[in-house]
Amino acid sequence: MSASIATPTLMEIGSDGTLSGSNRTYVKVLGDMASVYHDDAAFAAALEAAGADTLVYQVEEQRYDSEEGSLIVGTSTLLPGRIGDEYAVTRGHLHAKSDRAELYYCLSGHGVMLLETGDGRSEAVELTPGKAVNVPGHWIHRSVNVGDVPFVTLFTYSADAGQNYGIIGDASGMSVLVVADEDSGWTTVPNPQHSGYTVASA
Ligand code: NI
Repeated sequence: MSASIATPTLMEIGSDGTLSGSNRTYVKVLGDMASVYHDDAAFAAALEAAGADTLVYQVEEQRYDSEEGSLIVGTSTLLPGRIGDEYAVTRGHLHAKSDRAELYYCLSGHGVMLLETGDGRSEAVELTPGKAVNVPGHWIHRSVNVGDVPFVTLFTYSADAGQNYGIIGDASGMSVLVVADEDSGWTTVPNPQHSGYTVASA
């Protein structure tokens, strides 16, 4: 017999990222994003102009435990903006248990899920309301807001997955940048600073 069985919960999910039953909230402000963007001068100028406390993104989560087999459900709200030519991003991560998958469903806004593997694959999946990306295990993932309103996603992943945030920093960024493009709105370009991922084999 299991020691305790969690109780199912009704959740109301707003297109603005509100999540009833959320029991964990965290925010990232501009001051937390040092060395995330490739253009250091543009970042310093943004920090000077907007201030270190300027909200970049907010996450609401509901987690009932951290057991293998349980789900974390949450919303991510990434505000619009650019640092130089690079669109606003979340820090991004690989799951600490790297085989753990994740679903992202776009509730509102216009974004890109930037996905990369340690062996050199890269995908940029455009998301608008009603579209989702089913991210398999072993993919490093980051949200990018390429629109001019908040990019809001609903996500769910294994409660025991954890996050490895260092993998991107150790590689001096992801291998591509999502930048503004006059014709198509956004495009990807190689990140000249990217030094390659060091992924421990599972
Ligand atoms: Ni994740």
